[in-house]
Amino acid sequence: MAHLPQKPITLLAIETSCDETGVAIVHKENDRVTVVAQQLASQIDVHAVTGGVVPEIAAREHVTALQVMLRSLLTENKIAPAGLNGIAVTVGPGLQPALAVGVSAARALSYAWRLPLIPVQHLEGHIYSALLEGERVFPALALIVSGGHTQLISVTGHVTYEVVGSTKDDAAGEAFDKVARLLGLPYPGGPHLSELAQTGNPTAFFFTRPLLHSGDFNFSFSGLKTAVLYAWRDLSPEHQKKQRADMAASFEQTVVDTLVGKTQQAIAQLNPNVLLLAGGVAANTKLRQELATMAANVNIPLRIAPHRLTGDNATMIGQAGVFAYEQGRRASWQDIDAHARLPITSFQ
Ligand code: KG4
Ligand code: ZN
Repeated sequence: MAHLPQKPITLLAIETSCDETGVAIVHKENDRVTVVAQQLASQIDVHAVTGGVVPEIAAREHVTALQVMLRSLLTENKIAPAGLNGIAVTVGPGLQPALAVGVSAARALSYAWRLPLIPVQHLEGHIYSALLEGERVFPALALIVSGGHTQLISVTGHVTYEVVGSTKDDAAGEAFDKVARLLGLPYPGGPHLSELAQTGNPTAFFFTRPLLHSGDFNFSFSGLKTAVLYAWRDLSPEHQKKQRADMAASFEQTVVDTLVGKTQQAIAQLNPNVLLLAGGVAANTKLRQELATMAANVNIPLRIAPHRLTGDNATMIGQAGVFAYEQGRRASWQDIDAHARLPITSFQ
């Protein structure tokens, strides 16, 4: 069947769900998605002082950064409102005060410029960061591992999802951050812990792979975090010093084995065409390597979000947004709100 040419789409995208302020312009023409421009402002330095994200401080930082970034994005790229088809914005899940800043800005611009809004669920963005050209790879299985979420999602078509498994408690990134803090590493803990783990022995300590044989595709990382805490407390200060890297490596190995093992089980049951990996923890080298090895063994193509798009950003919100727009997703400025909790299936 011949494809009818589709109308080109250009969207402004805004992301403020946690501690990164992101704005982007994304364009889709036929099957090509291009990033016209993007900007990202990280709040890492601000939150490093408190050792974690304080939602009200994150919101205040978004307010300061967003206005300046929007102005420079549009003027530097000579984008006028008339050149846009709509505004894609993350409406949830995330930190309510932080989300509210992006949503309010999008509503104001939508009203002033008479442009439709395209509400985007944050994890849709992560999924599309691994689906850069939006090829037709469906059904795809996405492993989303971030600071707030750990989910296996079946992507059955563009912006159409089925949640296959979720964490029952802590997300993988959250466990990385908490264990990093226990080991005395600075915020954000995940990247620091994984760097330290490279010099450690991953078999020095054994932790049970949580829920690996539970018969479903759910995850749980809270018990693992406690197991690491007890093992760490049992060590003398001298051994803690000597075995810090071993503890980091053993913890990391446990998380990676669990994520890879569950994903392999889901592939066997669901038989997807492609495996996707995205979210902040997708930056983890061991996870990338071991997932790639498993995917090669079971003969499934693997797409991993490029490094620069694993963390939160607005490019991925625009990428999901253009496909959502094409499927007819629209909202007016009166109709959208920020939602700290929001299932990925909310708009289908
Ligand atoms: O997707 P993301 O930027 O924000 C959320 O939506 O949560 O993910 C952030 C999470 C943090 O927990 C951070 O520690 C973790 O991703 N992370 C990593 C690595 N880089 C970031 N965890 C393990 N290894 C890494 N290299
Ligand atoms: Zn995220």
